[in-house]
Amino acid sequence: MKALIVSNWKMNPVNSSQVLSIFNSVKSKIKNLKKCEVVICPPFVYLDRLKSYLSKTNFILGAQNCFWESSGAFTGEISPLMLKNLNCRYVIIGHSERRKYLFEKEEMIDKKIRACLMVGLKPIVCLSNLKQFKSILKKDFSKKVILAFEPLSAIGTGKPYSIEKSKKIRFKVKHPFLLYGGSVDSKNAFSYIKKAGFQGILVGSASLKSGEFVSIVKSLEKFI
Ligand code: PGA
Repeated sequence: MKALIVSNWKMNPVNSSQVLSIFNSVKSKIKNLKKCEVVICPPFVYLDRLKSYLSKTNFILGAQNCFWESSGAFTGEISPLMLKNLNCRYVIIGHSERRKYLFEKEEMIDKKIRACLMVGLKPIVCLSNLKQFKSILKKDFSKKVILAFEPLSAIGTGKPYSIEKSKKIRFKVKHPFLLYGGSVDSKNAFSYIKKAGFQGILVGSASLKSGEFVSIVKSLEKFI
């Protein structure tokens, strides 16, 4: 099983020439991956463009969110079916920033997960504490999704959760595919997989710095 590296660009960059520049500098340096699979999750507006850029690479396309219906009168929303038709394979669901700023609740998150699974998209569900894990692990769909442990103290803070504490969480969460996310960089990335036992990483800010992102991918190819 390959390690999954999910790059979450969040609401960046602000124009498509920057998208091209990030993509070009990463593409030329990451080739022939043997141990990792790289998923790029840009803002919706760049998905179509990235779909054509990614077509001749090993990178996989993902999205950062979706709605729970396929089409209809839902102003401003994007459906899982639309994402599927853009060659997306993964969708990040329930990110803590969406829970905080858009008040996403468990019920909405569950509907989104089910809608993704219906069209064959793989949800990557972000959870920040054991209570949330306990709840999702009881659901019928829990084995069909990828889970991501994203402790709030580590998201966008530059303060990664310690490897020791992460290892304890990994041990407690009985799920075959768990990612770690929160201030991942090229120095700590491989430890979350090799030492703490996660199946991959979710990378936010470091995924926009092409040199750093390339180093993350290379470190995993080398050390795991
Ligand atoms: P970060 O974000 O790497 O910038 O901490 C991770 C995430 O939000 O998924």
